[in-house]
Amino acid sequence: MSSDKVVAFLGASTGIGLSALKHTLAAGHQCIALCRDPSKLIKIFPSESTPNLKVIKGNAHDVAAVSQCIQADGRIVDVIVTTIGAKPIPHKMTVDDPDVCKKGAATLLDALAQLRSSGIKGSPYIIACSTAGFSRFGRDIPLAMRPIYALFVRVPGADKVVMEDRFANSGEKFTIVRPSHLGDGESSKTIRVGIEDPKTGPVSNVTGYSISREDAGKWLAENLVLQMDTKYLNKNVLITY
Ligand SMILES: NC(=O)c1ccc[n+]([C@@H]2O[C@H](COP(=O)([O-])OP(=O)(O)OC[C@H]3O[C@@H](n4cnc5c(N)ncnc54)[C@H](OP(=O)(O)O)[C@@H]3O)[C@@H](O)[C@H]2O)c1
Repeated sequence: MSSDKVVAFLGASTGIGLSALKHTLAAGHQCIALCRDPSKLIKIFPSESTPNLKVIKGNAHDVAAVSQCIQADGRIVDVIVTTIGAKPIPHKMTVDDPDVCKKGAATLLDALAQLRSSGIKGSPYIIACSTAGFSRFGRDIPLAMRPIYALFVRVPGADKVVMEDRFANSGEKFTIVRPSHLGDGESSKTIRVGIEDPKTGPVSNVTGYSISREDAGKWLAENLVLQMDTKYLNKNVLITY
């Protein structure tokens, strides 16, 4: 067991973030999670049995709340995982917060700048969850999925493109994770990985239909948080079965 990292999570009350948090906690790292409703996480990880988790109530669009979440022991945390996302409104082909990720990225970068200007130091590795389907360098989803992405993922996809650019241009260390369509349930299926450099394009191409939230979160924790593979540093990384 290792407890040498402090990892902050934004959006870990469900989905990919929750899975990544679960695997990071199990590896013994210190975790701080920002939640609008902390009871969701406290129910899953009671404080008596999870001493390495601190849950903070707050919104990922609030600089003060995010600043509180990304610092510990007088310094900025080692890793920040943001998997925030909006809820789909399928009949309107949109989501309940079309700006959730771009606002989240701006808030996080503002929080880092404010902490540093007040003398709090640190150079965190930011891992941000985006989506497949919006690469600037060509199609990264199966042809058959194009109409679905064009109709139902257009709005959250546009938000994620701005988020990706904000992190890629921030000067911070980052990895953008782009899962294919999300389903539910843990599995032992093989996960294929495509890597894209945000400036120069694909390093390795992969397309696929789906991946589960649980498997995506586990992959994220194992390959980026627990042991960061440098081939993913400052890259966009597509994950799919
Ligand atoms: N659906 C797909 O097929 C698909 C495919 C690829 C990528 N993605 C993207 O992948 C990411 C993860 O997806 P998921 O399904 O695992 O997510 P999810 O289960 O919907 O979880 C989203 C998380 O973000 C939190 N959140 C949203 N707005 C917030 C705010 N303003 N402040 C604090 N927390 C906030 C939610 O908290 P609450 O519990 O408070 O609501 C929740 O913890 C999302 O960005 C999603 O759009 C989705």
